[in-house]
Amino acid sequence: MPQPTRTLILLKPDAVQRGLMGAVISRIEARGLKIVGMKLLQVDDALAHRHYSAHVGKPFFPGLLKFITSSPILAMAVQGENAVEVMRQMMGATDPAKAATGTIRADLGLAIGRNVIHGSDSPESAQTELALYFKPNELIDWRRDTEPWITES
Ligand code: RTP
Ligand code: MG
Repeated sequence: MPQPTRTLILLKPDAVQRGLMGAVISRIEARGLKIVGMKLLQVDDALAHRHYSAHVGKPFFPGLLKFITSSPILAMAVQGENAVEVMRQMMGATDPAKAATGTIRADLGLAIGRNVIHGSDSPESAQTELALYFKPNELIDWRRDTEPWITES
């Protein structure tokens, strides 16, 4: 049985402004994943550069930087078996126009620069990204009484 892992999820400024936080959180909860950390915050220039360091210098980076720092985001630590991969599947392709119907980006978005949600792309990047947004004591490994109805472990 796979061990639970954690991933960083950001509901981007478009999701917060459009009142879509609840809709996305509902999908995460309904899937059986567990939220172990959550905070609303304003991303500043320095955090945006650290978070998207792999994209600094790319043609879309200035637009991405302006967007992600334009308004608050909701950061979440999400835990569960294969949480990184499961969340990436639930999110869908980076471009909502190409994402499969039923995914968060396809159902709630239209444009690649307004794609609603971020999710870590590997367990390694999840560890690095979680540390950018949360102190260890802000992540709570709480006991969920419905666990046996969600997983077999
Ligand atoms: P994210 O990091 O935000 O979860 O998205 P992702 O892994 O699916 O995509 P990534 O390649 O990491 O790109 C980060 C964000 O940059 C914007 N982007 N624009 N115009 C473009 O070609 C382009 N490519 C990427 C997107 O907003 C994407 O979420
Ligand atoms: Mg990415």
